[in-house]
Amino acid sequence: MSRLIVVSNRVGLSRDVGGGAVGGLSAAITAALRQNQGVWFGWSGETTPQYTGKLSLDRVGDVTVAKVDLEPQDVEDYYNGYANNTLWPLFHNRLDLTNFSRAYASGYARVNQRFAEALRAMIEPGDTIWIHDYHLIPLAAELRKLGFTNRIGFFLHIPWPSRQLFTTLPGHEKLVAQLFDYDLVGFHTAEWLSALTGYLQAELGVKMGDDGIVEACGRKTRLQVFPIGINPADFAPENASEASIDAQRRTEKSLAGRQMIIGVDRLDYSKGLEERFRGYEQYLENHPEAHERVFMLQIATLSRDGVEAYQDMRNRLDAIAGHINGQYGSLDWVPLRYVNSGYRQDELAGIYRAARAALITPLRDGMNLVAKEYVAAQDPADPGVLILSRFAGAAAQMKAALIVNPYDQDEMAEAIQRALTMDLTERMLRWRELKAGLDAENLDHWWQGFLDTLAEQPRGDRRIMTVAGHGRRAVT
Ligand code: F6P
Repeated sequence: MSRLIVVSNRVGLSRDVGGGAVGGLSAAITAALRQNQGVWFGWSGETTPQYTGKLSLDRVGDVTVAKVDLEPQDVEDYYNGYANNTLWPLFHNRLDLTNFSRAYASGYARVNQRFAEALRAMIEPGDTIWIHDYHLIPLAAELRKLGFTNRIGFFLHIPWPSRQLFTTLPGHEKLVAQLFDYDLVGFHTAEWLSALTGYLQAELGVKMGDDGIVEACGRKTRLQVFPIGINPADFAPENASEASIDAQRRTEKSLAGRQMIIGVDRLDYSKGLEERFRGYEQYLENHPEAHERVFMLQIATLSRDGVEAYQDMRNRLDAIAGHINGQYGSLDWVPLRYVNSGYRQDELAGIYRAARAALITPLRDGMNLVAKEYVAAQDPADPGVLILSRFAGAAAQMKAALIVNPYDQDEMAEAIQRALTMDLTERMLRWRELKAGLDAENLDHWWQGFLDTLAEQPRGDRRIMTVAGHGRRAVT
């Protein structure tokens, strides 16, 4: 069996391969690696005064975890900079927050070169390499420069922006060309894929075949949709751990007979938290009869606090939460409980179960696995209702949710009312449909589908040579 080398900015695999991985990306990669011998490589999350490229290696079951420290300037230019101040806001339609600093762009190029160099000694000829997310788009190009002809796949966990937005990025042509050094590029939804193909057609005059193989920038690659899933059994009530049962019990006790609406997100402007709070406020405004009988628990885990836009947003959210509680709260009722701590996956499952509705309303989101986790955690005999933004990638699959426009406060308020008053028959019907979707397109389906498709691609250098008199042909 060929080895799998996974590369992502963060390496989430801890000593315990089997459990507790936090975040969708790391849970997904952990699942893929658990069943494939291999290596997971990425940034340690630590800095070193001067970059050495020295790997810290750890062995967890069959998996080697390899991490490298970065210089503070790398973290500033690559992670806080190009990844989270340029690509992240741009790919989430926030041109107003996008910073096109050239120092960031060169930091991004530098760290990708450093990662390629650091990986060099680890790659063997038969290895399959799977690179994840927007931090690392140029990595295959760097590895090809070093002469590697291994199969290399890339998966984008965030949306791809429209052509009009993408072309504001200085060097957009180069970033796209770097995608064509992969043998397979995966997206969560057909919408993100078609944003890229729209760019390829309009800017590069590329003709799309219907086999998913695209020729552009002197290369051929396969572009395909693989919607990421979860493993529903990890959240199911029958598999609840002690910690999960305890979290459910504590949350239920705190309900004091009230209905709870849950929101769980990384604290990020793409998650639509301000709009969500406003929608909830509108609901409270419209429904005085619900006062004292409902509350919302918003868990917003702190994230990327080295980036100014995140600090600003945190301050605004603190103010809105304070305003809602000041305006509507009473001696023994806090209408909005807003917490910034993080919870383990199994604790979250217990908290999800105690909630009558989930309000998952990002303004733009590659997929959103919390929506799936909430559904998987429900009691089939008394399930809660999922309210989901039409702008989450998950909305393409989860059509039995109450789908809302997160910019429309009134629509959100109506959806909350509908969810909290929905009868058991409708809740069960909707839940069964959503759960069937989770089972069909689960986490194993995602990673196996991607790796099987990658294995089918011709191995090696995919340059298209121009042969005099014979047009272009692919060298595979
Ligand atoms: O899904 C997007 C993503 O950036 C992942 O790559 C990452 O694991 C997650 O969000 C958390 O982001 P960060 O590593 O910046 O905290």
